Amino acid sequence: MKNTILTFKDLKKQHKKISMLTAYDYSTARLFDECNINGILIGDSLGMVIKGDEDTLGVTIDEVIYHTKAVKKGAKNALIVSDMPFLSYHISVEQAVLNAGRLVKEGGAHAVKLEGGAHVIKQIEAIVNAQIPVMGHLGLTPQSVNAFGGFKVQGKSEETVKKLIEDAKLIEKAGAFAVVLEGIPGKVAEMITDSISIPTIGIGAGKECDGQILVYQDMLGMFNDFVPKFVKQYANLGTVIKEAVGSYISEVQNGSFPEEKHTFSINEEELKKLY
Ligand code: KIV
Repeated sequence: MKNTILTFKDLKKQHKKISMLTAYDYSTARLFDECNINGILIGDSLGMVIKGDEDTLGVTIDEVIYHTKAVKKGAKNALIVSDMPFLSYHISVEQAVLNAGRLVKEGGAHAVKLEGGAHVIKQIEAIVNAQIPVMGHLGLTPQSVNAFGGFKVQGKSEETVKKLIEDAKLIEKAGAFAVVLEGIPGKVAEMITDSISIPTIGIGAGKECDGQILVYQDMLGMFNDFVPKFVKQYANLGTVIKEAVGSYISEVQNGSFPEEKHTFSINEEELKKLY
């Protein structure tokens, strides 16, 4: 079943949970799509899990387009959402529409995601007016890491909770089809989820959100530099990969790989002609 923004709306209406994961390449996107994931995000988390940066700030629009193209070829049914990286929508509304358009035209995204509340409402409205579906993103928005003074849980005071609820309502009014809630208390995420009609997708925001998203390297146990409290590791692929690569190295070193069955043959007549 092909997922569209209408699928997301319907799932919330039917009180059915929405599943999303990040992906950045063809093979992974294809596997997730075969599992019937509702949506795939080409997140600017690629700065950390693909490029090895300390944060997401160095990611460029061209990098997101490159990874979106690969994911698009692998995912036939998931809704493909591409992240708008840092400074790709802050400078002007025109630039925001242009960059959102590039993610759709060049990358093949179905929708774009951008971080922030009141200060990016004009951008959200303009992108939606250009017929590009927008997913909002509130809470511990990683592009604000320096402004927050680190990756810190948000929405812990009355003032910030009120602001989060106001921002979520503004995002809905601006025409966004969904909003990611990241790194906020579960109760606060529940209040936001109950006060808007568009789906909320949580990451570190408890179980009351309309859906969940995780960075795939986190949930598959491939990125152990730092495992946040909200991550559940459904597999330990890091260990599986290390064991497999260790066996490969040993077999190459001791000559037991490749075997006859991995080797192409040539018939005797052809071989004689070579000598
Ligand atoms: O960049 C990303 O992967 C994200 C998700 C964690 C929501 O924004």
